[in-house]
Order: sequence, then structure tokens, then C-alpha cells
Amino acid sequence: MKKVKVLKSWDQDCRLMEKYIKQKAIDRSPLHILEAGCGQFWPLDLKGIQFTLTGVDIDEGALQLRRTQYNDLTEMIVEDLRSVQLEKNRYDVIYNSYVLEHVDGAERVLEKFANSLKPGGILILRIPDRNCVHGFVTRVTPFWFHMFYAKYIARNPDAGKTGFGPYPTFYDPIVSRAGIQEYCRNNHLTIKEEYGHRSDLGGQGITRFLIYVVVRSFNILSLVKHA
Ligand SMILES: C[S@@+](CC[C@H](N)C(=O)[O-])C[C@H]1O[C@@H](n2cnc3c(N)ncnc32)[C@H](O)[C@@H]1O
Repeated sequence: MKKVKVLKSWDQDCRLMEKYIKQKAIDRSPLHILEAGCGQFWPLDLKGIQFTLTGVDIDEGALQLRRTQYNDLTEMIVEDLRSVQLEKNRYDVIYNSYVLEHVDGAERVLEKFANSLKPGGILILRIPDRNCVHGFVTRVTPFWFHMFYAKYIARNPDAGKTGFGPYPTFYDPIVSRAGIQEYCRNNHLTIKEEYGHRSDLGGQGITRFLIYVVVRSFNILSLVKHA
């Protein structure tokens, strides 16, 4: 397997995604962007380009928070990604960040993405690899432990409230670096770039330090549909 490039920070990760999207806007304007599993917050800054942003999420509470706090979606759809109707060849960019691990039927969702991307469009996919330490620990521990972790170790006071995670995880076999690579080979998708970074799962003091050194995690894949 090709060596992945390692990103040093979340900030660097976001700037890179912005660069990819802005490059697409050079010859296509306005860009039609689908944020699939958008949640309550979009971390990218696309100042300077014209775009429409469609957000789909199954959690109505998260979408309400998104509307109240940011009101940045052109269109908001409360629906399951497995059943939502997405127009064929509609989007220039699909952004799907830390969602597929929560979907029991992730491959079906990827098929929808491939179908609704325009030729030459890009899919930006962020997933925790089910085979990395983070993925493994999440898979073998029950949901109550994820909630406990979010509340008392990561110390997120909103954990479990309406519109906030943690969300149940399934980790279909495709939610891995090898799974995505195989899917792309079989479906006319080219992986343009792959990046990884160490995950910072929160916590404080010594707990935070231990988590940081033990866990290696995320792969970020940027895919492009063949013209
Ligand atoms: C961990 S959050 C990530 C939110 C956001 N994309 C981000 O990166 O901050 C996972 C999101 O996926 C959504 N989600 C999970 N399963 C879904 C499904 N089957 N259809 C649509 N959205 C789903 C959840 O409601 C939640 O908003």
C-alpha cells in the first residue's frame, strides 16, 4: 500500500479541503456542494467562491441547531442517507465527514454519492479506519461506554443532548482504508489523495496524553469521478 501523507492538525486538514473545493470552482461556478451527514457545524471557509450548500442529516435536532447558529445551508434535508433521493450528476463536490462509520449500509450510500457526482466531481471522505486502534476500540465497546467517554473523559457537557453525539457506530467492512480502495477500483473512482492523522480523542492531563500517544487513526480520502 502507498504511504499516506500525515496531517499535523485539524486546521491543516480543513485548509487542504478548502483548497480542493476552491480549485473546482475555477471552472465551475456556482459550485453545487452536498454536505452528507452535515451535523450542526461546517468547518470550512469558502470565502471568495460562489456555491450552494445542501445539507442532509438524519438528526433533526442537529439541523435545527445548524439553522439557529449558522443558517448557512441553501437547502436542508432531514433524511437518512440510505433512502434520500439524490439527483443524478447533480453535485460538483460531496463532503462526507465522519458519517459512514455510523451507517449500517455504507456501501449503498457510497453508490448514491458516485451516482450524484457530476463527471469530474470530487468526494471528500473522512473516516476513522475500522482497523486502526480507534476503530477497533470503538467496535468492541458498547454504546454506553462511548457516552461515558464523551461525557467524562472528553468532558463534553453537551454529549447526549438533542442534536449532539455520540452517535451509534456500525463500522461496515468498507469503512477502512483497504475497503475504500477496493470500492474505488471496482467503481470507476480514482483516489486523488489519501491523508492520515493521529486522532486527538480529548481528555485532559495524563489521560489526554495517553490517548494521544496510543491512538493512530484517521484516513482522509479525496476521490474524483472519471469524466
Ligand atoms: C460524528 S457526526 C459528524 C457531523 C459532521 N459531518 C462533522 O464532521 O462534524 C455524524 C453525523 O452523521 C449523521 N448520520 C448518521 N447516520 C446517518 C444516516 N444514516 N443518514 C444521515 N445522517 C446520518 C448524524 O446524525 C451526525 O450528524
